Amino acid sequence: MNKRHLLAAAAAALVAGAVPAAAQTFPSRPITMIIPFAAGGPTDVVARIVAESMSRSLGQAVVIENVSGAGGTTGSTRLTTQAADGYTIMIGHTGTHAASVALYPNLRYNPAADFTPIGLVNTNAILITAKNALPANTLAEFVAWIKANERTANNAHAGIGSVSHTTCLLLNSIIGVNPQTVPYRGTGPAMNDLVAGQVDYLCDQVVNVAPQVRAGTIKAFAVAQQTRNQALPNVPTTAEAGLPAYQVVVWNAMLAPKGTPAPVITKLNEALRAALADAGVRARLAELGADLPSDVQVSPAGLQAFIEAEIAKWTPVIKAAGVTATN
Ligand code: MLT
Repeated sequence: MNKRHLLAAAAAALVAGAVPAAAQTFPSRPITMIIPFAAGGPTDVVARIVAESMSRSLGQAVVIENVSGAGGTTGSTRLTTQAADGYTIMIGHTGTHAASVALYPNLRYNPAADFTPIGLVNTNAILITAKNALPANTLAEFVAWIKANERTANNAHAGIGSVSHTTCLLLNSIIGVNPQTVPYRGTGPAMNDLVAGQVDYLCDQVVNVAPQVRAGTIKAFAVAQQTRNQALPNVPTTAEAGLPAYQVVVWNAMLAPKGTPAPVITKLNEALRAALADAGVRARLAELGADLPSDVQVSPAGLQAFIEAEIAKWTPVIKAAGVTATN
């Protein structure tokens, strides 16, 4: 080996050694967690509960940054441009990391290839909700109402490709209606307008719905899962309410940029697991009706397989609905 080769080998060894050293001291400064929707909505609410606990176990602040727009794809794209060092991570979901693949022909990222999975955070039931002034009190009455008022009715959602968009798309196609839709930057602001009676109905995640239903500010016709939700035991399932074909459960996943070193992912995964084992976090998520992931789903490899399976599940659903979007 000549002198040039020796120098090159020494430089390579230094670079190779730098990753474990950085990982050993990780995290030595605050971590930014991108939430691709507006503050106060379901993704933001779950993220803040989990981030607060992760901050304690990591010994560094986990700071939420809301980067909303284009159904969550703007914030997701942002993550792919960040350094793969664990200091910027995100919460993606069914919309941003599964349905988006079929919805956005020009999607700037591949959810299955351009991220390093940390772990699944939670799953969420979808509820069919409506403004209190809507003249229907059961799911059957709602179906009759929307069929009779298809031209004037409107359906709020959090942007093309968001969970509230795709899950209502599915509902509308099962009922056989195609109402107007009203996009927001998240279902936090959409819910405010539903409570105010500005929009007619919304398919939303239980964590955003449960507090409002308990407060009596909106109506919930049914929960789209097989069993009643722990947070809203009086709300029937879609099967009980006469629409068994409408079954949909969505999820939140914690992700890092592609190429984030494995030791850093391990530390973030351990902090996520610690948060999900924390009695306070569990109590708050249970009160909101969120469900916890399985041990496999909360592992990085399990989440990778889960995301790939969800893309395969949602792609034909979106194609059948014949919808595309631009971002
Ligand atoms: C949000 O946090 O606003 C939601 O997750 C948006 C959605 O996908 O419906």
